[in-house]
Amino acid sequence: MRRKKTPRWLQAARVRGGPVEEAGRADWLARALGRSGIMPQQAAEQAIREGRVKVEGRLEREPFAPVRLGATVFVDGWAYRLEAPLHVLMFHKPEGVIVAGTDPEGQGTVFERLRAVLPPDMRNFEWYAVGRLDRDTTGLLLFTNDERVFQHGTSPEKHLPKRYVAQVAGNLSEETLARLREGMVLEDGPTRPAGARLLAPECVELVLTEGRHHQVKRMLAAVGHPVLALHRQAVGSVALDVPVGDWRSLSPGEVTAGLGFQAS
Ligand code: URA
Repeated sequence: MRRKKTPRWLQAARVRGGPVEEAGRADWLARALGRSGIMPQQAAEQAIREGRVKVEGRLEREPFAPVRLGATVFVDGWAYRLEAPLHVLMFHKPEGVIVAGTDPEGQGTVFERLRAVLPPDMRNFEWYAVGRLDRDTTGLLLFTNDERVFQHGTSPEKHLPKRYVAQVAGNLSEETLARLREGMVLEDGPTRPAGARLLAPECVELVLTEGRHHQVKRMLAAVGHPVLALHRQAVGSVALDVPVGDWRSLSPGEVTAGLGFQAS
């Protein structure tokens, strides 16, 4: 059996014997800078390696150096405190952009679009997209600076409902809707029962409690109705209510009651 590789941050923590847990969460310098909104993680790694970051007055050149929340850091001589505010944002994804770090086709990424509309004090967080939408899918995409929210939102065990509206080719019948509701077998296994409601002869609302790759398109193709356009309206009970390309912060109540996330 292959042994699991020790992560870099843990190696660095062991070498130093420093604190690695803060309220049950391991943290290292580059990630802590991203989580605190001081600078995104990749930029932070570069700044640390270039010798531009001090922690509690000491120059630190190791991005994986363990740090504690509350520590004072200096970046290019400016003082900051390492904090862990929890942010979850809704973003209305436009068509054409991808959920990835870079776009080989040059149409742009959701991260670029989001940063372009965020105010300066929100731009320097490390933002994680909570799940994926295809390039041609529009609608609700959540972002967070907290990996626990990311894990909660993408975990296959949580069964967080996601509501989609699909425009399809051909008129959908009641029998087809019943097949979608009951669950069907796709090449990667059976689907869970889903909500399916006809909105117009060629338009269906689907509520899925799993997030498999291209799942909506594959389910509708399997029943003979290829998807022509797909839009995500809601995740949990959080419904999209901002215009295309725009964003807003979720309230703490939306994060807990709407997404079912409990910070431990
Ligand atoms: N299902 C799909 O097929 N595509 C998406 O973008 C989201 C869900």
